[in-house]
Amino acid sequence: MSNPKRETTTTRRGLLGVATVGLGATIGGVIAAPVAGALLAPATQEATFRPVSLGPIGAFTAETGFAPTAAPYVDDPNQPLVSSGLAYVHHTGGADRDWLSPRAMFVVFSNRCTHVGCPAAATTAGFACPCHGSQFDARGARIAGPAIRPLDRFQWEIRKGDELWITQRWSVLIDGDRVRYFPVKAPGQPLTGQLPAADALYPAVTYNHGPVPKTG
Ligand code: FES
Repeated sequence: MSNPKRETTTTRRGLLGVATVGLGATIGGVIAAPVAGALLAPATQEATFRPVSLGPIGAFTAETGFAPTAAPYVDDPNQPLVSSGLAYVHHTGGADRDWLSPRAMFVVFSNRCTHVGCPAAATTAGFACPCHGSQFDARGARIAGPAIRPLDRFQWEIRKGDELWITQRWSVLIDGDRVRYFPVKAPGQPLTGQLPAADALYPAVTYNHGPVPKTG
């Protein structure tokens, strides 16, 4: 014979259990959503490239042959330890202050190897990476080793009369004399021929940027 009091208690317990599970799920969702968002954020948010001065242009114009000048910079003055970088400034002998001109005064390379990001060093013929042997010619195009694309380049301009500033960073593909520019990709990340979803597999390094430069 059934016991109405016991059934009522059991039903209450059941309802409380469902309510507790529901509340727990809700709280869990409230907590988990921001955590998941924080975890996903690095893959979806774009950084902002802060224009930075590399110094007076006179510091870069004494180059003869191919001997680009190393120019350290700090992207974020508030986080110098994690935002420092090294640009290589190549003085072409050209006189044009338009960075996209065929006679542009400078080509400014990133020293970050496009294999897995070791610092490449300038040589008399281009750049060499000490980690796994990638080599790049004087245009920054890969000529040997496991790197899959050329060295990134910096957009530059001359400000305050004679200061060389880097104002944006681009990944590039080089086809003869033609350079094609792309939003910055991670080391090891291809620029073309990939599924769009594959971008989610790489850390986000693309900067907020204006129109991609068109050349050639
Ligand atoms: S990081 Fe440069 S060759 Fe591997």
